[in-house]
Amino acid sequence: MNNYIINNKANYDLAYAESTENPVKFWDDIASKNFVWEKKWSSVVNWNFDKAKIKWFENSKLNITFNCIDRHVKENPDKIAILFEPNNVNEKEKSYTYSELLTEVCKMANVLKSLGIKKGDRVCIYLPMIPELAFSVLACARIGAIHSVVFAGFSSEALATRINDCDSTLTITSDGSFRGPKTLNLKCIVDDALLKCNDKQKVLVVNRTQEEINIDKNRDFLLDDIISSVEDYCNPVLMDAEDPLFILYTSGSTGKPKGMVHSTAGYMVYTSYTFKNIFQYKENDVYWCTADIGWITGHSYILYGPLCNGATTLMFEGVPSYPDYSRFWKIVDKYKVSQFYTAPTAIRALAKQGVNFVKDNDLSSLRILGTVGEPINEEAWNWYNENIGKSKCPIVDTWWQTETGGILISSIPGVIPDKATFATKPFLGIQPLLLDDNGDEIKENNKVGKLCIKFPWPSIARTIWGNHERYINTYFSAFKGKYFTGDGAFRDENGNYRITGRVDDVIIVSGHNLGTAPIEDAINEHENIAESAIVGFPHDIKGNALYGFITLKGMSLGNKKIKSEINELISKKIGPIAKLDKVQLTSGLPKTRSGKIMRRILRKIASKEFNSLGDISTLLNPEVVDEIINNSL
Ligand code: PRX
Repeated sequence: MNNYIINNKANYDLAYAESTENPVKFWDDIASKNFVWEKKWSSVVNWNFDKAKIKWFENSKLNITFNCIDRHVKENPDKIAILFEPNNVNEKEKSYTYSELLTEVCKMANVLKSLGIKKGDRVCIYLPMIPELAFSVLACARIGAIHSVVFAGFSSEALATRINDCDSTLTITSDGSFRGPKTLNLKCIVDDALLKCNDKQKVLVVNRTQEEINIDKNRDFLLDDIISSVEDYCNPVLMDAEDPLFILYTSGSTGKPKGMVHSTAGYMVYTSYTFKNIFQYKENDVYWCTADIGWITGHSYILYGPLCNGATTLMFEGVPSYPDYSRFWKIVDKYKVSQFYTAPTAIRALAKQGVNFVKDNDLSSLRILGTVGEPINEEAWNWYNENIGKSKCPIVDTWWQTETGGILISSIPGVIPDKATFATKPFLGIQPLLLDDNGDEIKENNKVGKLCIKFPWPSIARTIWGNHERYINTYFSAFKGKYFTGDGAFRDENGNYRITGRVDDVIIVSGHNLGTAPIEDAINEHENIAESAIVGFPHDIKGNALYGFITLKGMSLGNKKIKSEINELISKKIGPIAKLDKVQLTSGLPKTRSGKIMRRILRKIASKEFNSLGDISTLLNPEVVDEIINNSL
C-alpha cells in the first residue's frame, strides 16, 4: 500500500515533507490507492479560508459504507467487525462479522426507506451504545441521509434544539438505556423533546430495556415491527465527495450549539488513514475506544476509521465503575484488546481507585494506549503508562476536535516517540503554527501561542449547518487565512506540541466540551437570578469543573437551595454533564467600564490564584473583588 503505512521516522519525514510541499500529489496517492471510488475526482483540493470554502476530491462519487463494509465482505466476510459488550455482566456479549454487519445495516437502511427517508434528509439518532446505534449511523450513510447523533445523556430541551436546528424528521431512539446500575427511559425524553418540534416528526424505537413506553400511533414505529418484513440487501446510494455525511453538534461561545457538517470523501480518507497509522492496527487485533458514538471520537474512531480499515472494533454499553472499577480491565482481558483508547478523566477516576482493580486482569494483549479529549496531566500519564501499559505500550495522546473530524497532532508508535503531557507532532498533511495576540507567527520554540492550522486537511468540517457566516467568524476570522482552533499550545525545542487548554469561553469538563454562554443562559432563566458568570477551575478527576458566580435579584436565598435549583435548571436545559460544582452568591460581578464581565479575574479567584489578579483598578466596581475573594469556595 506504498505510503499508506508509516513505519519509521525516515518514512514519516519523507511523507511529511511531501504532504506539506505537494499536498495534492500526496492525498491523490493516498485516496486513489486505498479506497473504492465509483468515479474519480476532478481536483484534489480547492480552498479559500477567508470564505471558509473547502472542497476535497471534488466530483468524485462513492459510498462510505461500501468502503467500510462491502469491500471487506468480499475479502474477509467472517472477520468480526463489531464486538458488543453489554452493560450488564450477566447478559451475553454479541458479535457481528462483516457479512452480518452488511445485512444489519442494509435492513436498517430499508427500514429508514420504508419510513420515507431519502438522500439529504436529516435523521436524529438518540440511542445508547448498542449495536443498533452503529447500524443506524451506517444505514443513514448507506442511503445518503445525514445523521445527527445526539449523545443520549443530553436533556429533552437540548435534543429538541438539535432536532429543530437541522430540521430532522425522524428520531431513532430506544425504549430505554442501561447505564451502570441505572435504567433511563429514553423514549420519555424524546416524547418531551418532540413537544417542542414541528408535526412532521416520526420516531423509530429500538427495543432494549422493555421499559413501559407511550406509543403515538401516528408518529412512533417499533423497529421490531418493521424490520422482519424488509429485504436484507440495500444498494448503496452514490454520494458526491462533498455531500454532507453527518452533522454533529458542539458547544460554542454563544448560546446555540454549532452543527458541524462533515463531508463524505475527505472525512473517509482522513479518518481511515489516521486510524491505520496512529493505532497501527494489525490483522488480528481487537481495537477498543471507550468513547460514546454520540461524540466525534466515536464517529471517527469507533465506526468509520476502524471499519474502513477492516478492523474489529469493540463497543461497550456501560460505564467504567460498574459493577466495579475493574470493568475496563476485565474487558481488555476478556477480548484480548490490543489498542485501548480513552479519556484522561477516566484514567484519573480509575487511578484514584487504586491498582487492586487492575491487578487480577491479564493486560498483556495491550500494545498501544491512547488518550483524547483534554490535556493529560503527568501523574495520570505515568499511572496509565506503568499500571496499564506496564511501561511497554506507547501512549498516543491525540489532539483534535469535533471540527477537525480526525486526529491532527499525535505521536505514532515506533515512528514519533511519545512524551508525557505532549500530543507531540503534526500528522501527515497538518501544518500547525503558533500565533501571538497580534496574529504574528511565533517561530521560536519553547513558547506558548494560539494554535492555528494554515492548510486544510481532508476531514476539516465544511460549515456550520444553516450558518456559514458563524463558521467563518468562529474559525477563520481571528487570524486571516488560518484556521483558529480555540486552543493554546506550547512547542518545545524538538517541535513537540503540548496543548495548554482552551483560550476562549469553552471549558472542557470530564472531556466534554461545554460553552459557558449556554450554561449562563440556562441559569439566567431562574426568576430570582439577575446575572451569572461561569468559569472553570482545576479538578482532580474531571480536569476542570464549573464554578458559578451568581447575583440575585434583591432577595436572599439559601446557598444550598439556589445551587440545587440552578443544577436542576441546567440538567433540564442542557444535561447533567453541565452541572456546577460550586456556586457562590455575590452582590455583583467584576465589570469593565463598558459593562463586560471580567471572567479573567473570576477564573483566577476560582483557581485560588488570588495574587495574580492583575490590575483591577480600572474596573467599574473594584470593591466587589474583595467581597468575592473573602467568600470564595
Ligand atoms: O481543547 C481541546 C481538547 O478538546 C477540544 C475539542 O473538543 P471536542 O470537539 O469535544 O473533541 C474532543 C475529541 C476529539 C480541543 O479543542 N482536546 C482534545 N484532545 C486533546 C485536547 N486537549 C489536550 N490534549 C488532547 N489530546
